[in-house]
Amino acid sequence: MQVKIIDHPLIQHKLSLIRDVRTGTKEFRELLEEIAMLMAFELTRNMPLEETQVETPLTTCTCKVLSGKKIGVVPILRAGLGMVNGIIKLIPAAKVGHVGLYRDHETLKPVEYYCKLPKDVDERELIVIDPMLATGGSSVAAIDLLKAKGAKNIKLMCLVAAPEGINLVNSHHPDVEVYVAAVDSHLNEHGYIVPGLGDAGDRIFGTK
Ligand code: PRP
Ligand code: URA
Repeated sequence: MQVKIIDHPLIQHKLSLIRDVRTGTKEFRELLEEIAMLMAFELTRNMPLEETQVETPLTTCTCKVLSGKKIGVVPILRAGLGMVNGIIKLIPAAKVGHVGLYRDHETLKPVEYYCKLPKDVDERELIVIDPMLATGGSSVAAIDLLKAKGAKNIKLMCLVAAPEGINLVNSHHPDVEVYVAAVDSHLNEHGYIVPGLGDAGDRIFGTK
């Protein structure tokens, strides 16, 4: 199982709050956005830099700036939307694509209903985001779709994963690095992550 666990104390603390069944929609959204931002901070740790000359009030110095790497953020609808703002606050120049998938409740298989991506998807480093990596079917389908459109450089960032989901992504897409805040115990008979946080989309949007 190949996965990077981003378990900074602030993320662990906020994740415990977000798991709590008493956490309401407003707080859930805020926490998800904050955790996404903290995770993105880690995920972008190795972004390339280049040198530039900056004039301070005192002198001129050689400083570093991002070397213009093109980033794309791709939320898997719906629940991935809850992570977008946290990331684009850190990387405001990122383009945002959308992949619409829902998981059929009977078969647990993903069904595609929407796809809109930046034109130059083949030149971008893409961060696919979804709070939940359960069976892994939705993430694998989203990555299949992105690769079919030409994407070459993809990372997957989820909040909570089941071992089954990580293994499925690893086996279908060994080139995709998977980042999560926690790997939980298992999936229940309905395909929900245990202990998990319930249905992420419903908790973000207040639906049931
Ligand atoms: C949830 C979640 C993932 C998927 C994970 O979405 O946000 O996309 O299930 O399950 P999997 O790994 O077994 O595919 P859901 O299908 O409930 O749609 P929603 O985001 O619109 O609520
Ligand atoms: N989708 C969710 O929203 N939660 C789970 O636990 C599994 C799939």
